[in-house]
Amino acid sequence: MNKPKIFLFSSFLVIFVVLFSCKKENEEDLLNNGSNNGGVCNTENMSYKDDIAPIMSASCNACHSNQNASGGVRTNSFSNLQPIIENGSLLGSIKHEQGFSNMPQGQSKLPQCSIDKIEAWINQGAKDN
Ligand code: HEC
Repeated sequence: MNKPKIFLFSSFLVIFVVLFSCKKENEEDLLNNGSNNGGVCNTENMSYKDDIAPIMSASCNACHSNQNASGGVRTNSFSNLQPIIENGSLLGSIKHEQGFSNMPQGQSKLPQCSIDKIEAWINQGAKDN
């Protein structure tokens, strides 16, 4: 191959590699977002153990555990969630409704899909499943 051809060939190679890696990233984004089912938030058959507890431990338990029950609230177990489900403050606080403190405190709102999952779980009877 002469020089111009090699240059052309390598340019195509670079473009191809760049395009391919972008596509791969998008696929990984979709796969990594466990809540994301082809861009749709799956709120069917919510499970405390698989869906709700992971959200609480990622975003709430640091301030609401047995060691550190801010405002007397604990989010670190199924039974500890019952009082704030019953008095409406779990949903009120994560949806930033008036009359409740915005949670998680000092941080941005939970992703809408996480809020939808918690609400769906409560509407499905807040089961210890
Ligand atoms: C950085 C610490 C921090 C994080 C993270 C946090 N909270 Fe709180 N939370 C507090 C403090 C402090 C209070 C008590 C003072 C207040 O109500 O603002 C509180 C109060 C609450 C209350 C009572 C609110 C009311 O209006 O009665 C609920 C319910 C609550 N948190 C739920 C949650 C949930 C659910 C999460 C996770 C999505 C969360 N919190 C994350 C610090 C935190």
